[in-house]
Amino acid sequence: MKKFIACFTAAALILSLGGCGQQTAEITTEQVQSTQADENTAEETTADAAEESNTTGEEDTAQTNSGSHVPVAYFSATGNTEAVAGYIADNLGADVFEITPAQPYSMEDLSRTDENSRVSREHDDESLRDVELVSTTVENWEDYDTVFIGYPIWWGIAAWPVDSFVAANDFTGKTVIPFCTSSSSDMGESGELLAETTGTGDWLEGERFRSAVDEADVTDRLEGLDLSE
Ligand SMILES: Cc1cc2nc3c(=O)[nH]c(=O)nc-3n(C[C@H](O)[C@H](O)[C@H](O)COP(=O)(O)O)c2cc1C
Repeated sequence: MKKFIACFTAAALILSLGGCGQQTAEITTEQVQSTQADENTAEETTADAAEESNTTGEEDTAQTNSGSHVPVAYFSATGNTEAVAGYIADNLGADVFEITPAQPYSMEDLSRTDENSRVSREHDDESLRDVELVSTTVENWEDYDTVFIGYPIWWGIAAWPVDSFVAANDFTGKTVIPFCTSSSSDMGESGELLAETTGTGDWLEGERFRSAVDEADVTDRLEGLDLSE
């Protein structure tokens, strides 16, 4: 967990130096290590030095952070995204926040083949997508440095209940990692559109998982981002 926070502290530095609110490149292990080396002395440019500075970063983070500083906020209509959120939370020891519509979606509501279903009507008429949520308030929100935001893909974009959540929260100073589940679509512009909706935070490219993803796949992806202990 400490290593995770150290990595994303470095990632946030990359982003702030770049001056961009929306990132299109994935964080790689090399980028994180490189940034951590830059944070220390200019002489520490070898792989060994980068490794050493990584350790230093872990210690610094441990002094300033206590408990979980990574919430996983997600919306899930049929459980797939919820499963991924759970895998991420289990792996990182993260807090979970479920984005819950005040009026939950029934299976009938979710029918794409019925042009009169709730989602079909909301899809056809954007003015209907302002979904009221049970709550948009995440406890100790200001303490979090990095936030995962999860959602299913609906017609190529983030399921719109998530829009209400991101619009209601201030992501200033936070690194945001969107993730989605879908049958076949990739993330498309879903993360970028959410970043536009909130207008705050450093939004990373994020991760797409297939609907029936298993825990090992999620763990592998997190390790690919060098988030594990
Ligand atoms: C209204 C609706 C629209 C969908 N649109 C897409 C889509 O455009 N592309 C895709 O690959 N999957 C699409 N799906 C499938 C979901 O993205 C997929 O089943 C997802 O894992 C569901 O997540 P959940 O169980 O967390 O709700 C759609 C599902 C629904 C209900």
